[in-house]
Amino acid sequence: MHGTIPVGGAKNAALPLMAACLLTDKKMTLSNLPHLMDITTMANLLVHLGVRLSLDGCSEFDGHTGRVIEFDASGVTNTTAPYELVSKMRASVVVLGPLVARLGHAKVSLPGGCAIGPRPINLHLQALEKLGAQITLEHGYIEAKAPKGLKGAEIHFPIVSVGATENAMMAATLAEGTTVIHNAACEPEITDLGQCLNTMGAEISGLDTRTLVIKGKPSLGSTNYAVIADRIEAGTYAIAASITGGDIELTGINESIMGATFEKLLASGTEISKTETGLRFRRKGDILPLDIETAPYPLFATDMQAQFMALLCLAKGTSHLTETIFENRFMHVPELMRMGAKIDVEGNTCTIYGIKAFKDAEVMATDLRASVSLVLAALAAKGETTINRVYHIDRGYESIEEKLGACGAKIGRVRALAT
Ligand code: UD1
Repeated sequence: MHGTIPVGGAKNAALPLMAACLLTDKKMTLSNLPHLMDITTMANLLVHLGVRLSLDGCSEFDGHTGRVIEFDASGVTNTTAPYELVSKMRASVVVLGPLVARLGHAKVSLPGGCAIGPRPINLHLQALEKLGAQITLEHGYIEAKAPKGLKGAEIHFPIVSVGATENAMMAATLAEGTTVIHNAACEPEITDLGQCLNTMGAEISGLDTRTLVIKGKPSLGSTNYAVIADRIEAGTYAIAASITGGDIELTGINESIMGATFEKLLASGTEISKTETGLRFRRKGDILPLDIETAPYPLFATDMQAQFMALLCLAKGTSHLTETIFENRFMHVPELMRMGAKIDVEGNTCTIYGIKAFKDAEVMATDLRASVSLVLAALAAKGETTINRVYHIDRGYESIEEKLGACGAKIGRVRALAT
């Protein structure tokens, strides 16, 4: 594969940023929004709540292109996020904090199970309770009430949670007094959210660290903010270069947030060099085996685990991959094995014995990152691979066929998109 791929805005930053529009009755404009199914689901949910959205075409920002959407939540009266919408995307739960903080009430369907593990939301609820919300669970819905507003508090998270940190941080911006969040997540998407909230008049300090201090304000104002680049999309296409022995330039990539992924790419034998417009990825020799353990940022992201697994299947030697964030995130393993991979799973660790090449097969996509790991394996496989249920990919990879196709991959969608 040879060519250039533009990296889009980060889905995992865009979703909470969109929910943040609920914190203000002033207009919010977000640019560099990726064109993805999950973004549409969040937009539908916001419209359901009474937010007025207007799509304002595309913009060019700092080398990125992406959609621009204006959000106006001044007329929100509906505070219920129904099952039909929340069950499509668990991240919908990030509307809970903003709704209860600004409108004093929120009723959000419990998201239900997920392919990669049970993924409870107890920490989101405990944090909001600390801020003074009364929480009840009934008929599959969480109801949060704070008719007199929220109050600043000390929140100690027992484990690092991205979503719970986002909900707590957004709610605390409108709470009376100061909130301190201990053991907060410090993923770049959290920092992006905090920076955006600060442009709206919030006072959040400690971004990029495990302790956030938030001085509550009576109201927040308008903003015009560009979503950070997607580090997972970037890492995925960098692996596409390496796994195929290709040479790919990524534009719009934010090098400063790629730390652990780049460290492992370099250790696997992938060369990374600067170009005039971005970064270039190509493999120097054999793929080298690695030991990888997932952990909260700044350590190695669980969202890159499946893609590295595909790469390491072709390494010269034996690799180990340990998943510490989600209970059941090895669903790509049996599918990769259908393509000839040799992997032993023991508890949360996979031992990956390098093979020479993947064989073509018919496989099944199970979740977003698992699906893309199969695409990566298929790119490197001899022959033609069919991947079923690819709708998972549309949740997180914008125009994947076009982006890979432009670099020489032969990839096409043979049946219609699932809605
Ligand atoms: C976010 C990302 C997801 C990424 C994950 C970990 C979005 C939209 N999704 O998911 O792509 O894989 O971070 O980096 O940004 N947990 C609890 N109780 C809670 C909340 C979480 O026990 O109330 C557990 C989870 O089950 C999991 C761990 O904490 O084992 C981390 O989950 P969390 O960081 O909350 O992930 P998400 O925010 O759901």
